[in-house]
Amino acid sequence: MFDLSKFSLQGKVAIVTGGSRGIGKAIALGYAKAGARVAVTSRKVADLEQTAAEIKAIGGEALVVQAHLGKMDEIQKMIDQVMAKFGRIDILVNNAGASPAMASVLDAEERLWDTIINLNMKGLYFTSQAAARIMKKQGGGKIINIASIDGHHPERQVSIYSVSKAGVRMISKAFAAELAPFNIQVNTIAPGAVSTKMMDSHWHELSAEEARKAKAETGKVIPIGRIGDPDDMVGAAIYFASAASDYATGTELVIDGAVLLAPLLNAPGVPI
Ligand SMILES: NC(=O)c1ccc[n+]([C@@H]2O[C@H](COP(=O)([O-])OP(=O)(O)OC[C@H]3O[C@@H](n4cnc5c(N)ncnc54)[C@H](OP(=O)(O)O)[C@@H]3O)[C@@H](O)[C@H]2O)c1
Repeated sequence: MFDLSKFSLQGKVAIVTGGSRGIGKAIALGYAKAGARVAVTSRKVADLEQTAAEIKAIGGEALVVQAHLGKMDEIQKMIDQVMAKFGRIDILVNNAGASPAMASVLDAEERLWDTIINLNMKGLYFTSQAAARIMKKQGGGKIINIASIDGHHPERQVSIYSVSKAGVRMISKAFAAELAPFNIQVNTIAPGAVSTKMMDSHWHELSAEEARKAKAETGKVIPIGRIGDPDDMVGAAIYFASAASDYATGTELVIDGAVLLAPLLNAPGVPI
């Protein structure tokens, strides 16, 4: 009979990249509640300290590691710091991601490509590699990559971000296939619209009131009727980090309030 304790992360060590705010912070707190010791990493220490304080407030143990994950030397240093503190890595959540500017395919510049691809794809790939080398020696581990529904269909003005997220989906599958024999499971979560600083940047040119209205309008076109909350991602992240998902690898959970189905639902002649 299935044992519910398989969802527990007791005794596990997790790294959550981009754990200082938004989706990463929600996952880091969720992991701490589920029993894991959690290393949170991003560029801004003050924000990370805030997450760590909240983890400690619920009785958890946290490590703050400052790292720019678009830079190869900082990736390895981050992994080394986690090993120095906790001595193992059971779970890696590659959540850090950015989409720093909007630009059409006619206007996007090389610098934007390099910034986005270096973090969202190259950083994620080599963070996974560094953690997987340790997991292999340990006899197993879990890697969870945060992609996006934009990796399923292109979003206007953020083509490079969409390319990067399609890449994340393939990196997950490539790692899953090669690492399966080592008991390392690699899975993907593809969020839809989630209320975070990244999401709010879509409306940065609007006044606060205009932004509030635009956000409400966005919620209405999502079949489930609202924009997602970072906590909406946590259950899936715990599942993929836990023994409950030991037979799941190379797979993906799209958590988007049915946005990807919206064009189908709205198409003429489609019975709903
Ligand atoms: N929000 C959405 O609607 C949505 C939808 C689909 C997918 N996603 C994905 O979900 C993930 C989290 O997004 P979010 O919405 O929570 O974004 P967010 O609030 O902007 O958080 C991004 C996190 O990544 C960190 N980060 C950014 N650049 C970094 C770098 N170069 N090195 C290390 N850390 C860096 C940030 O901290 P610092 O700035 O301190 O470095 C922050 O902790 C991203 O991969 C995003 O693409 C989000």
